[in-house]
Amino acid sequence: MKIAIIGAGNMGSAITRGLARSKQVQPEDITVSNPSQGKLDALQADIPDLTTTPSNIKAAGDADIIILAVKPWVLDDVLMELPWRDGQMLASVVAGRSIHSIVSILSVKYERTQMPDLTYFRIVPNTAAAIGQSMTLISSMAANPKQQQLMLDLLNPLGPTMLVPEDKLPAATALASCGTAYAMRYIQAATQAGIELGLTPQDALQMVTQCVMGAAALLQDNPDTHPATEIEKVCTPGGYTIRGINELEHAGFASAIIRAIKASV
Ligand SMILES: NC(=O)c1ccc[n+]([C@@H]2O[C@H](COP(=O)([O-])OP(=O)(O)OC[C@H]3O[C@@H](n4cnc5c(N)ncnc54)[C@H](OP(=O)(O)O)[C@@H]3O)[C@@H](O)[C@H]2O)c1
Repeated sequence: MKIAIIGAGNMGSAITRGLARSKQVQPEDITVSNPSQGKLDALQADIPDLTTTPSNIKAAGDADIIILAVKPWVLDDVLMELPWRDGQMLASVVAGRSIHSIVSILSVKYERTQMPDLTYFRIVPNTAAAIGQSMTLISSMAANPKQQQLMLDLLNPLGPTMLVPEDKLPAATALASCGTAYAMRYIQAATQAGIELGLTPQDALQMVTQCVMGAAALLQDNPDTHPATEIEKVCTPGGYTIRGINELEHAGFASAIIRAIKASV
């Protein structure tokens, strides 16, 4: 199975590194294209068996799967430039561009009767893909269950993967991709509080990040539990934690999170 990755920026590089770790695909079967050489050299230094090229057309060559990891304003040009052929899987990482809009561009390029028979995917990783901890969302069009499973397995080295109907993708993206920024903002604010209370920035950050990872792991490792159950465990009646929880309520913390996520859709 040959894979082309078009664009070697943050996402293209993270996906390349993830795929190179995968058992499903050999590094020599991956080709990455990017206009500037520096990013390709950095990838090649980490993954010597990788093929890199400044030519998108060369990268796409005999690829079975073509992953588009370019900015939205570059997507149309790349779609028009690449020589698509029957049986290929087109997987776009481009945020906010629907499969329908991709098909529309391709139908401008090809006469209706010449339109190649492609399988379409949208992939929404988050920045933790670089360390194999992304929550990666996948939507598809014209993909059979085997092809969907292939994409789920292929992207698994980036972190857990989940199939999501495309109409739910904006909501899922707000949670799983924009959510990284909201989690970071909590970590930043809690660390600031720790510093004001006399902790060093390094110690405060370590405490907060481990605390957040532990809280998430409590939920992930035990599907029978729930945030409310875990909060109750920590809140001794008349104790310190319930005071803090109630302060969060007075400040509209839960409401602010709900509004932030809805604003991101
Ligand atoms: N970053 C995220 O957290 C995230 C999450 C989900 C989805 N996305 C989506 O992923 C896509 C890529 O984002 P990113 O953060 O990886 O952006 P990025 O770091 O700017 O990467 C884009 C890459 O595309 C290259 N490029 C420009 N024109 C090209 C062309 N004609 N052919 C091939 N490559 C070309 C750029 O090369 P040069 O710099 O050398 O010009 C750059 O390396 C975006 O559409 C974004 O919506 C990003």
